Amino acid sequence: MHQGNNQQSPRAGGGPDTGLPSWGGSSLSDSEPRDGSDLPIIEPFRIKSVEPIHQTTRPERIGFLEQCHGNLFLLPASAVLVDLLTDSGTGAMSSEQWAALMRGDESYAGAKSYQRFEAAVREVMGIPHVIPTHQGRAAESLLFGLLLQPGDVVPNNTHFDTTRANVECRGAIALDHPCEALADTMSDAPFKGDMDLEALQATLEDKSLRVPLVMMTLTNNAGGGQPASLENLRAVQSLCKKHSVPFYIDACRFAENAGLQRLRDPDLAGRSVAELVHETFALADGCTMSAKKDGLANIGGFLAVRDPDLAESARRAMVVTEGFPTYGGLAGRDLEAVARGLQEVIDEDYLDYRVASIRYVCERLDARGVPVVRPYGGHAVFLDAARFLPHLPRDHYPGQALAIELYAEGGIRSCEIGSVMLGQLDPDTGEEIPAAQELVRLAVPRRTYTQSHMDYVIEIISKVWERREHIRGVSIQNAPAVLRHFGAHFEPRPIP
Ligand code: F0G
Repeated sequence: MHQGNNQQSPRAGGGPDTGLPSWGGSSLSDSEPRDGSDLPIIEPFRIKSVEPIHQTTRPERIGFLEQCHGNLFLLPASAVLVDLLTDSGTGAMSSEQWAALMRGDESYAGAKSYQRFEAAVREVMGIPHVIPTHQGRAAESLLFGLLLQPGDVVPNNTHFDTTRANVECRGAIALDHPCEALADTMSDAPFKGDMDLEALQATLEDKSLRVPLVMMTLTNNAGGGQPASLENLRAVQSLCKKHSVPFYIDACRFAENAGLQRLRDPDLAGRSVAELVHETFALADGCTMSAKKDGLANIGGFLAVRDPDLAESARRAMVVTEGFPTYGGLAGRDLEAVARGLQEVIDEDYLDYRVASIRYVCERLDARGVPVVRPYGGHAVFLDAARFLPHLPRDHYPGQALAIELYAEGGIRSCEIGSVMLGQLDPDTGEEIPAAQELVRLAVPRRTYTQSHMDYVIEIISKVWERREHIRGVSIQNAPAVLRHFGAHFEPRPIP
């Protein structure tokens, strides 16, 4: 991956000026640039185990699209060449994580693996009470089950789909307060994952609303994987404190958020990611976490809280659905993989590579005029489908249409994050209110694909871009009432 203008910490170079010749013939002093400033950033790992993937023909892919009614969630994975549907649970584990699996203590209660898991969460995030769950949405369900009553309001920078569903299925209202800059997908504002502080203040001051907690999603997944600044997080915490409302973090991509803070906030120069992570969580009363993202594991999650009474209630509640509190729906070996993953994910070489690999794709697409959401995020390339396909009205679902074309063209699976996933029905008129944006996300699994896969992705997107005027929209034939994108059936419709 080419480094571009990334701010990198210097890598190994010549020795101090002792008057003696140094190894490697270098006479660089510490203040001079070291290797790496104009070299590619390489994948900071080597590959020990491989999984074959296979190309399909275009007629085969058209056949698969027919079978799955244009819904890429319903495709068999074997029909996909490069799978960028999600970065959730799809990453590769390290050799240390595989080794840790063998240490898995499968005792029903009090397993050593739980102790290591708890210690890792405490060390990385600094939150004392740690409750394992099988994945992120189970932690959300547990927390909201304890805190929410029908009619309550939960503000968030932007709820992700499962978080919204978990709020709404308790009869509560999921309120998004994204900052203003988020709406302009082409602006380079560095922290578009920030909360709109004025809107949050108005919600907290509105005496007619009951707000049992405020949440911040790091990074803001639905809004283009944008980070929130430390300053904004501090301001949200202080508003919450003033109104005595607990503040929780949806921590799925906490390390990427800290990595982007470090790159984008000049005041944080020289601060380590581990410190920034600590500082972020020190502001919160707790967090929900999907370890399938920045836990670098294939399954797992947790709820972590400061309040011992809340922790005790969660432990009592979870036995009914998740399991005993020291395993929470996971095997001991899964707990081990997460414990190790949490330590590996804050490695700065890894995070720099991760950001550089996303930027590599975005810069090349940008240079060809493809509308890519800016600034480039940490876990995915987001295409602005409304700009990509301006001839399609919102109710022709341009994001879904584009995702279908990327699959038809080159077997790439991506995910619509627009009106199919986040559109809502107006309770009064029954009409559909479109989502704030029509995006297509190409989420990059962690440590899984190489630069040549990404070069292929760039070429396929470019081919679709060249014939964009001929792309047709879709209509929804039928869909489940909740989380409809997972099961909806689509049909192509004529170009308007
Ligand atoms: N919060 C955010 C911000 C997420 O991105 C996700 C999952 C969850 C909560 C729920 O976690 O899947 O472990 O239950 N996002 C995946 C994605 C599915 O594709 O972005 P989970």
